[in-house]
Amino acid sequence: MKPKLLVIGGRPTFQKKALHFFQPGFQVSTAASGREALPLLGNGQPAMVLLGADLPGGGSLEFLRELQQNFPRAKAILFSAFQDMNTTIQAMKLGAYDYVLEDIDLKELDQKIQKAVRILNLNEKIPPLKEPESFPLPSFTLIGQSKAMRELYKFIGLISNTTASVGIRGETGTGKKLVAQVIHQNSPNREGPLVTVDCTTIVETLSESTLYGHEKGSFTGAVESHRGLFEMAAEGTIFLDEIADLPLSMQGKLLRFLQDKEYQRIGGTSQKKSNARIVVATNRDLYQAITQGKFRKDLYYRLKVLTIYIPPLRERREDIPLLIQHFLHKINREHHTRVLKIEDRAVQLLIHYDWPGNVREMENLLTLACILGKEEVILEETVKEILHRSQRLPYDRPHLSSLGEAEEEILKRALRTTQGNLTQAAKLLKISRPTLRTKMQKYRLSLG
Ligand SMILES: Nc1ncnc2c1ncn2[C@@H]1O[C@H](COP(=O)(O)OP(=O)(O)OP(=O)(O)O)[C@@H](O)[C@H]1O
Ligand SMILES: [Mg+2]
Repeated sequence: MKPKLLVIGGRPTFQKKALHFFQPGFQVSTAASGREALPLLGNGQPAMVLLGADLPGGGSLEFLRELQQNFPRAKAILFSAFQDMNTTIQAMKLGAYDYVLEDIDLKELDQKIQKAVRILNLNEKIPPLKEPESFPLPSFTLIGQSKAMRELYKFIGLISNTTASVGIRGETGTGKKLVAQVIHQNSPNREGPLVTVDCTTIVETLSESTLYGHEKGSFTGAVESHRGLFEMAAEGTIFLDEIADLPLSMQGKLLRFLQDKEYQRIGGTSQKKSNARIVVATNRDLYQAITQGKFRKDLYYRLKVLTIYIPPLRERREDIPLLIQHFLHKINREHHTRVLKIEDRAVQLLIHYDWPGNVREMENLLTLACILGKEEVILEETVKEILHRSQRLPYDRPHLSSLGEAEEEILKRALRTTQGNLTQAAKLLKISRPTLRTKMQKYRLSLG
């Protein structure tokens, strides 16, 4: 049966044109007002509605609200000769599928309608994804049933009664930080704090005091005594992220700390003892760093004793469907979206993609699909489009000659992708909104 298409309002010439154009594919009917249109919607069968935004008496938004309430299986595209900001925002907030100008090329409009019809049909067919088993989830949960992940759970279980030092190795985005959190959560030190140190940001001259603390007056500028991170984490866990970047001068001290858990504040006289468990992570090949003279061999062997390797996502593709389910629920909770369905072919695409950015890349992709896609079902073409965009990463472009240029390009891309939504763009870039604003000023980027 042909799907229903109802054209409400608009100029008579538009109604006629639409009737003529869409008749072969749809059961088209026209109405001059909302009141006239209601009986035509019939028995709740899914229908497409082209709704003029200039209905007499300003009734368009009112009608849209009524439509959404009483005919949840209908999708409305608004059209008008002009498109002002307020009506557009209101219409989209009320759940309009799209908003177009009245002089839109009908072929383009047809594509939008076809896509919406596909969503309506899929929405009828696909059952929603189940809630994750244990809901609400504890804050840190690793998802995955692949052999690698099951081994990992066992390993965490085995080491959980000890406070032995642990190394975590894996490509970017494989979940190293999450694993560190789960280790902490299950360790005897779980009541203590988990202190994270990003070794890439430790400045060589400061790092010693950052890690070990200092006594008042021990160097110029040391106006107060200061507790270092080892001291803060004394009864908890200290997570040294990107350990390969720890300055060489610090590596010897770390080794000593690992051996006897003792340290001294700069300028201090007494040895202090710490109970902290050390967890380190790296996405680099530490052995290569040794051959380059950037990493101490003895520290490497010391850390190697208990090492967890998290394989990249492309080597455990069977985890992908579970991760999709997990992330859609997580995204819906965090972003107040309601996307619980995904087309089979989209799942297949996600299963076969290579995920150079691993689980993080997948979470970002699904977040984009949920927020930017106007659909309650994630479609194959939405996934394709996002994958296509992400493959044109600015880093791959040879003409970018400086870090600044690359940064500017990434900012522009994020603003484009989120259609100028600063909150979303900041989230995507993993920076705060004020930082984003500062950077936009630096590169003189404006919205639109
Ligand atoms: N198995 C998993 N189950 C659920 N979420 C996961 C899993 N693995 C990773 N994640 C999520 O993916 C994102 C990236 O993970 P995380 O920050 O731990 O990666 P990473 O290995 O530390 O990356 P990088 O090397 O870039 O620092 C986080 O939001 C994390 O919660
Ligand atoms: Mg990390």
